[in-house]
Amino acid sequence: MPSTLPDGEPAPADGSLPDAALATLPQRRLGVYVHVPFCRVRCGYCDFNTYTATELGGGASQASYADTAVREVDLLAGVLPGAPPVETVFFGGGTPTLLPAPDLVRMLAAVRGRFGLSAGAEVTTEANPDSVTPDGLAALRAGGFTRISFGMQSAVPSVLAVLDRTHDPERVPQAVAWAREAGFEQVSLDLIYGTPGETLADWRRSVDAALACGPDHVSAYSLIVEDGTALARQVRAGVLPMPDEDDLADKYVLADELLTAAGLSWYEVSNWARDEASRCRHNELYWTSQNWLGIGPGAHAHVGGVRWWNVKHPTAYAARLAAGQSPAHARELLDADVQRLERVLLEVRLRDGLPLDLVDPTAVGEVVADGLGVREDDRLVLTRRGRLLADAVVRDLLG
Ligand SMILES: C[S@@+](CC[C@H](N)C(=O)[O-])C[C@H]1O[C@@H](n2cnc3c(N)ncnc32)[C@H](O)[C@@H]1O
Ligand code: SF4
Repeated sequence: MPSTLPDGEPAPADGSLPDAALATLPQRRLGVYVHVPFCRVRCGYCDFNTYTATELGGGASQASYADTAVREVDLLAGVLPGAPPVETVFFGGGTPTLLPAPDLVRMLAAVRGRFGLSAGAEVTTEANPDSVTPDGLAALRAGGFTRISFGMQSAVPSVLAVLDRTHDPERVPQAVAWAREAGFEQVSLDLIYGTPGETLADWRRSVDAALACGPDHVSAYSLIVEDGTALARQVRAGVLPMPDEDDLADKYVLADELLTAAGLSWYEVSNWARDEASRCRHNELYWTSQNWLGIGPGAHAHVGGVRWWNVKHPTAYAARLAAGQSPAHARELLDADVQRLERVLLEVRLRDGLPLDLVDPTAVGEVVADGLGVREDDRLVLTRRGRLLADAVVRDLLG
């Protein structure tokens, strides 16, 4: 979650939504994102809305967080008449697993109790490999979590050190084994490529190590140098080089080759899954502009073309809810042009492809002629070269 939020119009203090947005509730899939804004230490590259104990400075406490978030679930349920059962719940952060498992289970139970969960709902938590125990994982599984996503990032100690990651690489296979013992059928690993000093051989070692854990899903993101991070300061000071575009491209291709050879297929430019059942249904819901609620400080939500986001700091968030008010800070009403633009940006990145009727046929013809995409029925699907140049393809398509 970026640290700066866009401007928008003020959101109503009672959390109410326009009727036209509410009318979409029965027609679209509904997901819930729960943000847990705590980390033990901050990694140098990360600008997510998350706080260490020192950064919180005696504000909203971790111990009271679950109760506060449950208040937001209650409030939202009151303003969303006609909401269908929730199909996906995703606890992200921050580090959700820094909270005791019973707190996470209680927040999930609130979603289940107020909205209902659909049969076979996907319930994911992100986890730092350092922050899980066999008992904690068993409690999450027993409480209804079905999927876990570990922030592995790299298997190479020198790369982890540049990223300021504190976990021992050996901890990842251990955490995956514990998750399997606890009964998690869906296990995902996050990797980062392009860290300054990482060689192609280092990256191969990381992907191989991830695959050796037998994950059902892998996300591989290029390192983004975010403004305001320790990493950005090091790059600006010339202590570390900026990630190099050609190196990033080589690493993307290598990851795609290794993951594909191991039986994981791409289904979004940066995501690979063992089969359709192992795709992250929650992210698919974002990528296909469905409806989702965002619980927690800084969390974003979208219902029927209305996007809103909460106040950013955990103390302000808790204060709003304690006063019986919505923590929503501001909102945007997305008009039809913006909604189409966002669909193009997101859906072109999917293996399922971009519906051709969203874009100009001449522009599609050029993308295909350039070898960046192929037509499959009524959709445009990127080739591997197209995936490497996805941003440029979007620019061409939107003219
Ligand atoms: C909330 S974290 C995952 C859980 C846990 N906090 C952890 O880091 O292990 C989500 C993921 O975002 C990715 N991420 C964060 N900042 C990034 C950046 N600047 N560039 C690329 N990926 C980033 C990392 O791969 C990380 O695993
Ligand atoms: S543990 Fe995860 S969320 Fe926390 S600072 Fe590191 S990457 Fe960001």
